[in-house]
Amino acid sequence: MLPCAESCERNKIPILNVLKDVFATTKIVLEIGGGTGQHAVYFAKNLPHLTWQSSDQPDSLKWLALRLEKEGPDNAPAPLSIDVSDHPWGFQADGIFSANTLHIMSWHQVEQFFTGVGQSLLNPGKLCVYGPFRYDGRYTSQSNAQFEQSLKAQGQHMGIRDFEAVDKLASEQGLSLIADYSMPANNQLLVWRR
Ligand SMILES: C[S@@+](CC[C@H](N)C(=O)[O-])C[C@H]1O[C@@H](n2cnc3c(N)ncnc32)[C@H](O)[C@@H]1O
Repeated sequence: MLPCAESCERNKIPILNVLKDVFATTKIVLEIGGGTGQHAVYFAKNLPHLTWQSSDQPDSLKWLALRLEKEGPDNAPAPLSIDVSDHPWGFQADGIFSANTLHIMSWHQVEQFFTGVGQSLLNPGKLCVYGPFRYDGRYTSQSNAQFEQSLKAQGQHMGIRDFEAVDKLASEQGLSLIADYSMPANNQLLVWRR
């Protein structure tokens, strides 16, 4: 049986509601860190005007590839093998999407993520990043503070990122923040454009 993340089932509808607007005229979306592929299948089915090109790091590709093979619509091709630290990513898109990845990566990998975005995002193009963030050094909820502790217990390199530091990396790649949506369960959907 294919692995299924409950969080994806809970957050896919509110995320889609934002993406319908943000990616209304987008032709190709590159997804980084596609995980189980639940998002890729759901977003590709519900955004039929675009191609949803998912990817993940080489060690995590197996289940993503299997889900897309079994459940993916025609506009969700087989996933690419992309580790954010290996540049160039070798793919250009006018949309880039990544969910729940920046707190899993080390800070160095987060920096590498934005370098890759800078190289792969076409102009004009939009970047959407979903996940928890801190603002002014504060968590947006007690549950996010607890989540940070559980991340640190799994690996000291992980952690909820500061919005201001992430936005600085985006700015250095010529991206401007155009929206910051508060999402269910104390997550954010950040949108930049170039
Ligand atoms: C918590 S999972 C999120 C998966 C999915 N996007 C979701 O929202 O359920 C984190 C994902 O980040 C990916 N990831 C971690 N480090 C990465 C790296 N260096 N390059 C690319 N992907 C990475 C993992 O393989 C995994 O798929």
